Amino acid sequence: MNTTILGLDKEKTEKLVNNLNGLLSNFQIYYQNLRGLHWNIKGKSFFELHVKFEEYYTDSQEKIDLIAERILTLGGNPLHTFSDYTSLATVPVGKDISQDVEAVNLVVNSLSELLKVERKILNASGDANDEGTNSMMSDFIAEQEKTIWMLQSWLG
Ligand SMILES: [Fe+2]
Repeated sequence: MNTTILGLDKEKTEKLVNNLNGLLSNFQIYYQNLRGLHWNIKGKSFFELHVKFEEYYTDSQEKIDLIAERILTLGGNPLHTFSDYTSLATVPVGKDISQDVEAVNLVVNSLSELLKVERKILNASGDANDEGTNSMMSDFIAEQEKTIWMLQSWLG
């Protein structure tokens, strides 16, 4: 087996890097969605959601950096242009959303899509014995599942 300096299968690592770049692209679109929601939200939930969306985009920004640095750790190159992000991302894009329920639904649907991408990576990283990526995906998945629960409780 051809291995990397980390002792991981080279071919599997290359595939993982591609998948992680897909996740990175999705997170960048999700991040930008959250900025838009933070700016444009209107109505009686303004103060609550304006702050909540800021909390979420700050968290996403940290995850974006973790994903990019995991790609580098695995020997890959993290994508960094908007054109790459928009061509690879599969999360929904929200534009001019100011109504609270629509805003929260966009976050729930984005998280649901991120979970799909992360579970795919988790399968691949498990197969590659890549514990570093495994644990990162497990943490992201558990956190996002909890966030979906809370947002769905908010939706009632
Ligand atoms: Fe702000």
